[in-house]
Amino acid sequence: MLGDEQLEGFVVRSDGQCFAYRNRCPHTGSPLDWVEHQFLDIEGSLIQCAVHDARFLIDSGECVFGPCPGESLEALSIKVQDNRIYLLGVA
Ligand code: FES
Repeated sequence: MLGDEQLEGFVVRSDGQCFAYRNRCPHTGSPLDWVEHQFLDIEGSLIQCAVHDARFLIDSGECVFGPCPGESLEALSIKVQDNRIYLLGVA
């Protein structure tokens, strides 16, 4: 929950950093994961949308392959403290 709004997001840890995004593809607004909690491509190097196979950079959320080039995932602002992740808001 963020205020009165319920949102679904996910966090990817990469190179010791955490990146959080709303689970909504900029192409159609669909959730990215057909298989629950599966957000990365087979190489584990890009975020993948399972609907039409768009790929996004982990560190920026920018689409680099697929039907929505140049668009980005909606970043979530988080804080990592004591091995917990706190949602601060929509970035
Ligand atoms: S809904 Fe994600 S690529 Fe089409």
